[in-house]
Amino acid sequence: MRSVLLALTDEIRRLKASGVKTISVSDDSLATLHRLVESQQAAAGSSATAPIEPPAPELPIGESRMAVSSLRQPANAAPRLLPPPPDVVLPIGDKTARWQALRELVLNHPVCQAHVRPGKQVVFGVGNLDARILFVGEAPGAEEEQQGEPFVGPAGQLLTRMIKAMGLERSEVYIGNIMNWRPELPSRADGTQVGNREPTLEEIAFCLPFITAQIDVVSPAIIVALGATAARGLLGPHNVRTMGDVRGRWHDFRGRPLRVTYHPSYLLRKVVEGKIPEQRAKRAAWEDYLAVMERAVLPITDKQRSFFLQ
Ligand code: URA
Repeated sequence: MRSVLLALTDEIRRLKASGVKTISVSDDSLATLHRLVESQQAAAGSSATAPIEPPAPELPIGESRMAVSSLRQPANAAPRLLPPPPDVVLPIGDKTARWQALRELVLNHPVCQAHVRPGKQVVFGVGNLDARILFVGEAPGAEEEQQGEPFVGPAGQLLTRMIKAMGLERSEVYIGNIMNWRPELPSRADGTQVGNREPTLEEIAFCLPFITAQIDVVSPAIIVALGATAARGLLGPHNVRTMGDVRGRWHDFRGRPLRVTYHPSYLLRKVVEGKIPEQRAKRAAWEDYLAVMERAVLPITDKQRSFFLQ
């Protein structure tokens, strides 16, 4: 029952974050919820305010006191309660040493490890540690958790083309994600996962210190948030109901300018579903990239200015 209630509260949080203010619940659903809560209380022999289960233990970052097997989630379970977001403390040293220590922490963190399926990988950021532009995506997908690198699937190929259109190489920028694991969905019989889901606010909050620390280490001149989830993570969920709330202007993330643009997957989806013409969707995104290029004082040719204008 706990997983049902957790899934329900997650869904309500997600709806709230996406701007939904009211939901209607049928009398039947309410009665079912009451029955669930009553049966849980009866089983626990407890008062209405007693916790359903002991809270999840807090895991100090950098320590692996808890066996991963005790955290590993059954393949078909709903997202679980996570420990509070970790405090990231990096050793004193140069950028490379601090980045490597951070990478080790994240890749070996028991909570991250507990969320990857057998044979899959925790995904940490990649790129140039002196990058002036740092991209933040949402979460690894199937290809990324397989290869252990962000943005290597179809969305990544589009991102790489956009970076090249800016006159840069992928190796000149830094690319990370809000999440370090692929948010779980129920498995097929063979244990694989089909499709992706948005991370919950709790998952975003847990992983946020990891991308924040990467931003601090790389110290880019500009951050580009790819899509609403990255924007919600970096700017706060209450500031981002829709992309329209945040696109087209500069924001601040811990003293650095941040621009929000469409997630490459969204562009691919729009194009596939034909919701708006491919050129128009790509042009809208390209205008965000042009704004980033201007702010980064990158050269912009007339040809670049007119990309996707037919
Ligand atoms: N989408 C993301 O947001 N990140 C990836 O790494 C891949 C796809």
